[in-house]
Amino acid sequence: MFGRKATEKQSQATVTEGLIMEALRVVEDPDLHRDIVSLGFVKDLKVCGGNIAFKIELTTPACPVKNQLKNQAHDAVMALDGVENVEIEMTSNVRPRQMSNEELIPGVKHVIAVASGKGGVGKSTVSVNLAVALAHTGARVGLLDADIYGPTIPLLMGVDDQPEMVDQKIVPIERHGVMMMSLGFLLEEDRAVVWRGPMVAGAVRQLLSDVAWGDLDYLVVDLPPGTGDAPLTLAQSVPLTGVVIVMTPQDVAQAIANKSIVMFRMVEQSVGRPVPILGIIENMSGFLCPHCGKETPLFSAGGGTKAAARLGVPFLGSIPVDPNITISGDAGVPSIIMDPESRQADAFHRIAGTLAARISVLNLTGK
Ligand SMILES: Nc1ncnc2c1ncn2[C@@H]1O[C@H](COP(=O)(O)OP(=O)(O)O)[C@@H](O)[C@H]1O
Ligand SMILES: [Mg+2]
Repeated sequence: MFGRKATEKQSQATVTEGLIMEALRVVEDPDLHRDIVSLGFVKDLKVCGGNIAFKIELTTPACPVKNQLKNQAHDAVMALDGVENVEIEMTSNVRPRQMSNEELIPGVKHVIAVASGKGGVGKSTVSVNLAVALAHTGARVGLLDADIYGPTIPLLMGVDDQPEMVDQKIVPIERHGVMMMSLGFLLEEDRAVVWRGPMVAGAVRQLLSDVAWGDLDYLVVDLPPGTGDAPLTLAQSVPLTGVVIVMTPQDVAQAIANKSIVMFRMVEQSVGRPVPILGIIENMSGFLCPHCGKETPLFSAGGGTKAAARLGVPFLGSIPVDPNITISGDAGVPSIIMDPESRQADAFHRIAGTLAARISVLNLTGK
């Protein structure tokens, strides 16, 4: 009896679009600190009696709190009188960085440079796994190997064919869901596709403008290590959304990371536009025992966190040392694909989400 009355009461209540939008204001994006209604994320709201459907359009498919936002929105609308069913579709639309990529790479929304103070810290390994992790979320991702000293991305991605030319453009090679291009294809004489101009900057500009990148949400660029001319020139030639710095946890690595940051501050001044440091990633943070799974710090723990705090830049996460990372690299299969259940795969996915969220915040707030 009671239940029936309640149902009658519910079906009489009229749900309006206004009421639903009002209810959804309780759902807040934890990174942007604003509700999803005022952010304009709620789209295509349809009300049909007690059946409600809408989309939540996030600023990145890699949003780490996607499910949390969906559940909160569902519960908020479900709590309204007269609502019987709520269908929410989570979509995304990566908004481009306001600066101009038009001239070089019109379809690319964000260029993320991966840099390191020195070689051998796992910069390329991180570039590859981050690119693949972003692509796994449904983002359209490119990977440009701009490391003139050691272009290893084709090896790490298992690519041994060479790119083709169509309509005067080099077609990137698609592997593991990522569009890949390497300076190595141009540097190796016997495989040279196009090589016009000996200058590094010219080559990189060429890699951007003469490659048919198509529409990409994120283009990850593996920069040469160090703070010499080469990374500087490259960072100046490429319109960057920001830079990710890879470091290892030793104390001395902090000093080197600091040098990289100083270098990018110089780039900022010389190009006259912001080149934000998106954050620091600590690689080889501890040894993950393949037998017992326990992680032992190799150096004093928390080096990356401390360095980030001291340098005033975000900390994006740490990746343990695992011999399987080298095995997968040598096999040309990114670690997150070869060992999807591993601790490092989890770390790469988390870092990709944090990075994408960081870019969204930067884009919407400028900070
Ligand atoms: N977290 C890790 N655990 C174990 N080996 C790693 C890890 N990260 C990188 N490596 C290995 O270290 C070596 C250098 O990595 P690489 O990505 O080529 O560095 P970089 O691009 O900075 O020179 C490679 O053999 C790679 O497999
Ligand atoms: Mg490298």
